[in-house]
Amino acid sequence: MTDGLFIAFEGGDGAGKSTQVALLRDAFEAAGRTVLVTRQPGGTPLGREIRDLVLHGDHVSPRAEALLFAADKAHHVEQVIAPALAAGDVVLTDRYTDSSVAYQGAGRDLGAQEIHDLNMWAVDDLVPDLTVVVDVSAQEGRRRRGEVHDRLESEQDDFHEAIRAHYLAMAQGNPQRYLVVDGTLPPEDVHEAVVQRLRSMGALP
Ligand code: TYD
Repeated sequence: MTDGLFIAFEGGDGAGKSTQVALLRDAFEAAGRTVLVTRQPGGTPLGREIRDLVLHGDHVSPRAEALLFAADKAHHVEQVIAPALAAGDVVLTDRYTDSSVAYQGAGRDLGAQEIHDLNMWAVDDLVPDLTVVVDVSAQEGRRRRGEVHDRLESEQDDFHEAIRAHYLAMAQGNPQRYLVVDGTLPPEDVHEAVVQRLRSMGALP
């Protein structure tokens, strides 16, 4: 239990999460809230080093990849997210534990339950108040990414479709904690859907 509000944005590469994070930051600030915008991996100096290792280095074995992402999260939650929530701030994160459950668990085939448990241990069971899944097909994500930037983006469409399917399954299994938005809609429409949901939760006026 915290005083702040914790919202995670999830989805495939190229879904448009960062645009939505920026729009939501403006909405909360207009409502007078203090907002911390952050991301995984790379929300701390250590996390930025992990990000370089895991996204831009040579091959990383799948289990090592899962542990590196989990280490980023453990440090990020303790150093950045938990203190901001304790101060009563709104924390918006571009990716959180569900990224690992989807990418390492479903995409890399390491087992969604195992990766979920590893991540919950890493973040000391800190779960977002709301997770917004910005949904686009693997094909559309690839089209939007254009050039490939990192090891995970360069995986084939079936990897990205497995990730997408897993996000949708997680959301379907827990509708109170998730909102799925169609990432092919205009950004303002996606934002409006997020705002509506937060209003219904009493988090925005
Ligand atoms: P992201 O920061 O969204 O990429 P970019 O800023 O380059 O658009 O995410 C980086 C990549 O890391 C993305 O392909 C998803 C992947 N990822 C995982 O595989 N597991 C994780 O736990 C996280 C947080 C990200």
